[in-house]
Amino acid sequence: MTIDEFRATFAVEPGYLNWAAFGPLSTTVIEDVRVDADLYVSGRQSGIDLVNEHAAEARDMLSQLLDVPLDWMTYQPSTTHGLQHAIYGITSGAVMASTGEWPSITVGITRAAEAMGRISAQFITPPDNMMTPEAIAEALTPETSAVVVSLVDFRTGYRADLAAIRDVIGDDRLLIVDAVQGFGVVQADYAAADVVTGNGYKWLRAGRGGGWASFSDEARNRLDPVLSNVAGLDGGLILDAVGKPAPTAAAFQTSAPDFLACARLVAGLQDVVSVGVESIEAELGQRTAEVIAIADRFDIDVITPRGAGQRAGIVALAPRNDGAAMLGASLANGGLVTTTRSGSVRVAVHAGTDDETMRMFEDAVAAFAQHAH
Ligand SMILES: Cc1ncc(COP(=O)(O)O)c(C=O)c1O
Repeated sequence: MTIDEFRATFAVEPGYLNWAAFGPLSTTVIEDVRVDADLYVSGRQSGIDLVNEHAAEARDMLSQLLDVPLDWMTYQPSTTHGLQHAIYGITSGAVMASTGEWPSITVGITRAAEAMGRISAQFITPPDNMMTPEAIAEALTPETSAVVVSLVDFRTGYRADLAAIRDVIGDDRLLIVDAVQGFGVVQADYAAADVVTGNGYKWLRAGRGGGWASFSDEARNRLDPVLSNVAGLDGGLILDAVGKPAPTAAAFQTSAPDFLACARLVAGLQDVVSVGVESIEAELGQRTAEVIAIADRFDIDVITPRGAGQRAGIVALAPRNDGAAMLGASLANGGLVTTTRSGSVRVAVHAGTDDETMRMFEDAVAAFAQHAH
């Protein structure tokens, strides 16, 4: 698939710049969903099996895209579920995360510390809310046993360098990565992490329910699968007795996958695999550079790093004099969908964002600047 064919799978109306919140579905996903929903109607076993096979297909494609062994992959209902399996499984020490992370991380660490009594939370507030290798290195203590970090920060758009983080934390600490804001649109060294988790409903344009997580052999050795249940048993389902958790990553699962969600996820992944993450990343780099150039032209501060390798699809704008609400309103008036929160406006482009949307964005920013300056 060429990048233009990939762009043709975007059926979204002009003005949509909120891919970090929700990804309107790809046309590939819509077409596959219709077929799979029909297969679930008659009750014919062959039809049910065909739909259910998408779970294995999803694992296979995910392991290829992450470049990790197939048996590291697990199905999860969401990113948060994947994080919970990892965080509740940590057996000792202090678990480091930024106070500015998406709450799935900070709430998860706090609840696990309270409930299990085995770990403590080590929250840090790094400069500019960015979990750089330097900020992590500076905060490390002998007690730090794990670091939980977003591949791409939901607010600032900062893209973490996983290999560099691994270098500073060493091999004895666990690296748990929330990849939901970057997986499938930017390349990353996922093999540097012990746990990587994400979902299909943002950048993969596949809707909710298609979550996943990879657990390395080291993660399986060092984490307790305390949230494991029937889908995580050694040797499959056992009745009239309580089986042991699987010796592999499969232990970090609770119930059977939502197979229709897996079907959507597979279709979303197919788009990505056929065009290639590298092409999507290049296109995204151009679009985010355009957003930054427009902000510069109208003298609006940009929080997101300017280096293309340090961002993905999110650009955070911080107009001076508490102007975020006003900029957000101006964008909404101009027919744009963005997120305004904590004093900044998050603009999230995708590779399929069209020129008309960029023009609408520039016009709305110009209208804001006219009133603000
Ligand atoms: C960084 C980050 N992690 C996790 C989530 C939640 O993911 P899920 O809905 O798959 O649990 C979000 C949602 O916006 C997010 O931005």
